[in-house]
Amino acid sequence: MKNYLHISDLNNLHEVVKGAIELKKSPLEYQKLGKGKTICLLFFNNSLRTRLSTQKAAQNLGMNTIVMNFGSEGWQLEFEDGLVMNQNKSEHVIEAAKVVSQYCDIVAIRAFAGLKDKVQDESEIILNNFIKHATVPVINMESSIGHPLQALADAITLEEHKVLHKPKIVLSWAPHPKALPHAVVNSFIELMQFQNAEFVITHPVGYELDPKIVKNYKVEYNQEKAFENADFVYIKNWSSYNDYGKVIPQDKNWMITSDLMKFTNNGKFMHCLPVRRNVVVTDDVIDSESSLVIEQANNRTYSAQIVLKKILENIE
Ligand code: CP
Repeated sequence: MKNYLHISDLNNLHEVVKGAIELKKSPLEYQKLGKGKTICLLFFNNSLRTRLSTQKAAQNLGMNTIVMNFGSEGWQLEFEDGLVMNQNKSEHVIEAAKVVSQYCDIVAIRAFAGLKDKVQDESEIILNNFIKHATVPVINMESSIGHPLQALADAITLEEHKVLHKPKIVLSWAPHPKALPHAVVNSFIELMQFQNAEFVITHPVGYELDPKIVKNYKVEYNQEKAFENADFVYIKNWSSYNDYGKVIPQDKNWMITSDLMKFTNNGKFMHCLPVRRNVVVTDDVIDSESSLVIEQANNRTYSAQIVLKKILENIE
């Protein structure tokens, strides 16, 4: 594998998940693989899990890590070609990507959707320009439209906790005061094509997702009905896709409560974090034994580690 940009970049998800679960048992086994190699983690947006778990994964493989909060510390980058750069942007991505590539063997980028201009967000201007101009492999640490490291961690968590061969998995919208991007849910939906599961998406009217990603998956507008007999409920807020980036009048009844969880088949609660307690989910649900959120965050290390291992094996 050269780059990791989408969950579909993994040739065989099932084998990769098995590999990650093996790494989890013996995280330092491949210390020699990354010896003398460096990863640069460039953050155009905030992070807790992605930043720390990707560093930990790289260090488990013996790599050196360089982290930069590019959004606040780097020069403002220009991404358009052929411009007269006489405004506020000091450096072009053409030079920046090539310069960064000289300092590392892999570069990882976090660059969220701005949620103002759908066409611009979908062009993935930051990630795609780094792919174009960098001379080393690129990893997506959450872009405008995808979060494949999170989706892989979720696949590991589902594999570790599933009891049925074909579980029912529900992706549910939940309330949030701020406009949030679609990257996590997009990648989770993309993950479902590789899962043997009954998959249902539920959200209020107005929060329909990109039809190119939802494809023919079932959308159920009645949250209680969607939750019936669910083995896993994956909860995430997202802003409107059609009225792009807007928070439309919210239905607080969509918060995940223990009463709602009673409709499930003793279902497991999943969320990528960060989460707002008693807005998205009540304390008693997230604190219950059914909650997998801390384990999902733990699996971010092994998701990043198996991806790095595959890339390092390719560049050796
Ligand atoms: N889930 C996730 O990506 O968390 P961070 O935004 O804290 O990295």
